[in-house]
Amino acid sequence: MFEHLSALPADPILGLLTKYREDSHPQKVDLGVGVYKDPAGNTPILDCVKTAEKLRTDSETTKVYIGPTGSAPFNELMNELAFGADHPVVQARRIRTVSTPGGTGALRVAAEFIAKCKPGATIWVSDPTWANHTGLFQAAGLTVKTYPYYDYDNKCLKFDEMLAALKQVGAEDAVLLHACCHNPSGQDLSTAQWDAVVEVAKDKGFLPFIDMAYQGFGDGVDEDAYGVRAMAAAVDNMVLASSCSKNFGLYRERIGACSIIGKDSAQADVSLSVLLYVVRCIYSMPPAHGAAIVETILGSNELKAQWLDELKVMRDRINGNRAMLVDKLHALGASRDFSFIARQKGMFSFLGINEAQVNTLMKDYSIYMVGSSRISIAGISEDNVDYLAKSIIAVL
Ligand code: LMR
Repeated sequence: MFEHLSALPADPILGLLTKYREDSHPQKVDLGVGVYKDPAGNTPILDCVKTAEKLRTDSETTKVYIGPTGSAPFNELMNELAFGADHPVVQARRIRTVSTPGGTGALRVAAEFIAKCKPGATIWVSDPTWANHTGLFQAAGLTVKTYPYYDYDNKCLKFDEMLAALKQVGAEDAVLLHACCHNPSGQDLSTAQWDAVVEVAKDKGFLPFIDMAYQGFGDGVDEDAYGVRAMAAAVDNMVLASSCSKNFGLYRERIGACSIIGKDSAQADVSLSVLLYVVRCIYSMPPAHGAAIVETILGSNELKAQWLDELKVMRDRINGNRAMLVDKLHALGASRDFSFIARQKGMFSFLGINEAQVNTLMKDYSIYMVGSSRISIAGISEDNVDYLAKSIIAVL
């Protein structure tokens, strides 16, 4: 049987992890996978997570099955975090949420759910989008098409083209939108642009499917949820995939949430039954540990305040790194204007160099980034920015 298989290339993002680890260059720089790093290059466990974990370990009484919805308190707290406790869809009990294995699990469950609504449905994704979106949606049997998004030449949004394309989307299609911190471009919609997209979604009736993997990494927890909240207030049906990997630093615990909004509570119940069937057929039920940590934090005023502080430290550091790289490139006389990096948001930006230059940076300078020139901003530090900027200038 296995002789029919041919080897597949390594994942374009995760494959960089191995290459970087195997490199012995003393000045190697990791700008690959999107993980937060402190100034020393470590990805620490948040203090609020340490405290919550200890509290849970001490109070946990069983490891019995949790069921396909996962933890009910976690799901509720995640709804409040994403939508706000007073949001009309929360008040009207129109949301049903399941805990999922990470944001990727949420995306896959949502994709399978959409395939149950309409087998082979078309999903429109931004050009470009996270490298794994396309494969993941196709694996669920969806047809993936793209709408214009990032203007590589002018380092901004192709907003008019995006809006024009969305106006052509059919009522039975889904449209994937990034809530904030667009991966890979870092180019987000303004609130006015979100309002315009919401109007089109309402008018055309397509299913908005929002991926919120970085809530709190852009401008703040509430600010980053602007589009999610505006969209949810305006449409009958919506899907949200959220992740606790980055904002709680729970990467390896694999915890996220998939939320479905029905036009009323009865439709939400039907949707949940389908969601539970999907979950049962893939992994039966989600892991519980990450959810237990998050619900302990969000359920305690004190721990939540600590988490918001720690999240701000991460956000400020990323924004500081953006400015630091731009300043350094400018000070060293870069022939190009990189100021767009400081205007963009979240974990990523494109450097805007070609694949040959990316490969040279990797082979000759041990600087690792995705082939598209997407850099993970958290990998920049006071210690490596000089070397990084000089190397970028050398390959320009
Ligand atoms: C990334 O884009 O680097 C992260 O979302 C990690 C991943 O799984 O690709």
